[in-house]
Amino acid sequence: MKGKLSIADLDVKGKCCLLRTDFNVPLDEFQNITDDTRIRSALPTINDLIDREAKIVVLSHLGRPEGKKSHKMSLKPVQVRLSRLLKQDVKFVEDCIGSDVEEAVSTLKEGEILLLENLRFYKEETDNDPDFAKKLASLGELFINDAFGSAHRAHASTTGITKFLEQSACGYLMKKEIDYFNRAVANPIRPVVSIVGGGKASSKLQVLEKLLDRVDKLIVGGGLAFTFLKARGREIGNNMLEEDLLPNVRKIMDKATEKGVKFYLPVDFVVAESMDPTAQTKVVPAQEIPKGWVAPDIGPASVKLFAEVLHDAKTIIWNGPMGVFEVDAFSRGTMAMVSAVSDAYALTIVGGGDTDVAVHRAGAESNISFISTGGGAFLELLEGKELPAFAALSDIPD
Ligand code: 3PG
Repeated sequence: MKGKLSIADLDVKGKCCLLRTDFNVPLDEFQNITDDTRIRSALPTINDLIDREAKIVVLSHLGRPEGKKSHKMSLKPVQVRLSRLLKQDVKFVEDCIGSDVEEAVSTLKEGEILLLENLRFYKEETDNDPDFAKKLASLGELFINDAFGSAHRAHASTTGITKFLEQSACGYLMKKEIDYFNRAVANPIRPVVSIVGGGKASSKLQVLEKLLDRVDKLIVGGGLAFTFLKARGREIGNNMLEEDLLPNVRKIMDKATEKGVKFYLPVDFVVAESMDPTAQTKVVPAQEIPKGWVAPDIGPASVKLFAEVLHDAKTIIWNGPMGVFEVDAFSRGTMAMVSAVSDAYALTIVGGGDTDVAVHRAGAESNISFISTGGGAFLELLEGKELPAFAALSDIPD
């Protein structure tokens, strides 16, 4: 990845800085923010801009309103939370382009913050429409992108906008995400162990394929493990099988053998008659999943095996839970993996597919080296893809 200009390289004093953040936070039915991690993660960048007396215009999306205004996806609750976190008034305009916005920007003083309404109320945002990008760009003088969670999207406010401004730099969060990724994946201390879980094999094949070129050991758990177990000739009960992928998962296991990457699947499961949290459960070896039963969690022998695999790791990359951890009765395996990863003397990176939720739920954040704020963006990095929003930033001059 090419070196990109960073916020620290910019002379921001007195300048109007357009700051793209990913404030796509979860809201409950009353529009209360249920997790403000993404807002807190942008504070180092915002505080730095305040300290250096920039005029700050914050751009973000929330949800997928598909070009229509929607009260439920307004960024108003973010304005309230951001003001509270900064202990400073954050101004808000109920639009992101147009005369009201221009008026609010023109009266903005140094060190003040203006949050604009959800960019995706305009379809032009996701269409990466050049006129819309130009209108956004005309509001400021410098562009700073701290929205790592949206860096895999080539939208008007993430890539298009950079064409109309002289300098586009990454914020501190974006920089930290990319730096940690490079430390863990591009240039890691070995042995490297990766844990890949989550629902479907189809959504993780590319990640697994790529990881095999980079890791020493690979642990596969969660729903996707069943297609692998089936490929090894196991009975998998009523668990999800992606039959058309059997040749692909066989290839992955063959590639692991060819490359000398040690490959681990669960050796036992918590099985249940149904996904109902009150259903009868028992622990069985992986080769004895009863017909018609589901296996919503890994069992204690798998946890022990995986913890041993992690024991001498120097770098651990974890994406995806080991089971249906949202249900208490099926959360033990994932929670035990949180503690195994927390206990390792290794650089530990967690990201994508709700893995961060499991870590937060276990209260183990401080035991993990880095928790990515990206879902899809983290996954795309693992797949070896370039993130268009990062690529669009200005290169560091020679
Ligand atoms: C995310 O939550 O992954 C980002 O905010 C991107 O959202 P999107 O998948 O709706 O583009």
